[in-house]
Amino acid sequence: MAPTKKAEKPAEIKAIYNPPEHIIKNATVREYDKLYRRSIEDREGFWAEQAELLDWYQKWDQVLDDSQAPFYRWFTGAKTNIIQNAIDRHLKTARRNKLAIIWEGEPGDTRTFSYHALNREVSKLANVLLNMGVKRGEIVTIYMPQIPELAFAMLACAKIGAAHSVVYGGFSVEALAGRITDAQSRVLITADGGYRRGRATKLKEIANEAMQRAATIEVCITVKRTGEEVYMENDRDFWYHDLMSMPIAGHKCETVPMDSEEMLFILYTSGTTGQPKGLVHTHGGYAVYTATTHRMVFDIKEEDRWWCAADPGWITGHSYIVYAPLINGATVIMYEGAPNHPYPNRWWQMVEKYGINILYTSPTAIRGLMRFGRAWPDRHDLSSLRLLGTVGETINPEAWRWYHEVIGRGNCPIMDTWWQTETGGFMITPLPITALKPGSVTFPFFGIEIGVVDEQGQEVATGADGNLVIKAPWPGMARTIHGDPDRFLETYWKDYKKQGWYKAGDAARIDEDGYVWIIGRTDDVIKVAGYRLGSAEVESALASHEAVTEAAAIGLPHEIKGHAIHAFVILRAGLSGSSQLESELKEHVGREMGPIAKPESIEFVDMLPKTRSGKIMRRVLKARALGEDEGDLTTLEE
Ligand code: WT7
Repeated sequence: MAPTKKAEKPAEIKAIYNPPEHIIKNATVREYDKLYRRSIEDREGFWAEQAELLDWYQKWDQVLDDSQAPFYRWFTGAKTNIIQNAIDRHLKTARRNKLAIIWEGEPGDTRTFSYHALNREVSKLANVLLNMGVKRGEIVTIYMPQIPELAFAMLACAKIGAAHSVVYGGFSVEALAGRITDAQSRVLITADGGYRRGRATKLKEIANEAMQRAATIEVCITVKRTGEEVYMENDRDFWYHDLMSMPIAGHKCETVPMDSEEMLFILYTSGTTGQPKGLVHTHGGYAVYTATTHRMVFDIKEEDRWWCAADPGWITGHSYIVYAPLINGATVIMYEGAPNHPYPNRWWQMVEKYGINILYTSPTAIRGLMRFGRAWPDRHDLSSLRLLGTVGETINPEAWRWYHEVIGRGNCPIMDTWWQTETGGFMITPLPITALKPGSVTFPFFGIEIGVVDEQGQEVATGADGNLVIKAPWPGMARTIHGDPDRFLETYWKDYKKQGWYKAGDAARIDEDGYVWIIGRTDDVIKVAGYRLGSAEVESALASHEAVTEAAAIGLPHEIKGHAIHAFVILRAGLSGSSQLESELKEHVGREMGPIAKPESIEFVDMLPKTRSGKIMRRVLKARALGEDEGDLTTLEE
């Protein structure tokens, strides 16, 4: 660990929080430097050792096959299925009767599932899917609220060797239709709706509209959650509970042994240009990577109750609500609704009620709850908490300190984990034993080699900003972009092709003690409340409105959300902007893409700054909006 130096330093760097004695004493990983060095010197040995902790139907011939780099392959020759480790192996031990999932709905209804019960639900659904003709390798789209069936659906697909594509329940028609089409999904699993802030969302209605735009769906299975009336089409639509009570569901289903490198899921995420890309993750490496990072970073103990308060619709939920905690045999808490419903103490009530030991959330959620004041958490017994975590964007020191002092009572280290949809799991993160600096993601995880470099790939000076790169492969890395390997190369591997490095798309800096600080995206990805959106998607949603000729979207700082979308719109000739049209356009984007993509504000303009080749210069728009220097304008077309 980097030592605590006495020398004068700027305030942000001076504050160092050493881990409490009881954490150090009980930590699974007691030492970083030596193990880190070893993991870099013998990367394959390190990962093989981690892989040995899991069950395999057949062990690997090779830990890493880099013959087609950067299309790396891990644990080749091995046979496994993530379900073998997430469910099957626990059934042979006392964990069989341990709670796997404790779920609470927003209205306050609760359901719990032991590993035994989880296996029953997943096996039955797997049989249903087999009966619907779902084949190994095909992609099933899942569009659900945060209910246990969402996890069952993911796990059931994996069990029979189908891949899943979960579309976040907050997304809307266009986003869903586009993802269904890209995946060529034949089967969609959805629900009538879910609860959010006391209201029933209308998922099935959106799904119906999306199925009209995306013609590939032949079978749609709907979970009844809200009981609201929904339209069901003959021969296409089936109720989940009907299918699950039919003899075809049975109660036993064999897990299909998969090649280590076979596809487990695709997950769409926004990039700089064009439509979202479906990143591909596979059974073997992903299981090893997520389980290892989860176990070591959050120091998972047998009796822990683990709450990752994200949505399974994002990579955070895939990796750390569903797969890693189940592989590690933990008890997972799932909560359906909003953190402040009906009151801003909902989360703290949950912590007290279930005796939650670890809470993992985002800076935007912390800031959102912080603004209601400490009286709300102070009413609750939060003493069960041992560790805290954060992800999604850089946490501002004020939110960090509130989280640490008010929620963690000054006693729970905060794991600020930097990672991406592409990385599968944590990449730069403290361990419980790490001395923390608020706002820094600290050090690379074992086996992860990073650099902060300039455009040429030269390491920048200590404390200077540069591009964050990852210098060597890791088991959890995305294997490709579904259907578009060229885009995979172009997006992540082109800029440092010579060196063979992965470009993260973030700017970062490393301070004199070796602590890593993430500055933010260097591309046109906008992080709104920790959710990742592409300027291009928001722009095309705007342009799909009949009044709009062209649009540009940028992210501007926002107190709670971190960033919010600000859009510039050119209207069709003869039309003029009004506040009424502004709200209509916002609604339109919300309807097409989902509420999270709604612009905070829209400005009507006559022209957009463009390069001579016709690219919108969003950097210039941003600088103008912030009243900053517009920088190099030589490529600007007059
Ligand atoms: C981008 C990736 C939800 C899982 C991770 C998000 C930003 C992520 C941190 C952090 C500062 C962070 C980066 C990254 N980011 N974690 N701890 N500190 N920035 O996955 O939606 O694919 O977004 O989120 O900009 O590139 P994602």
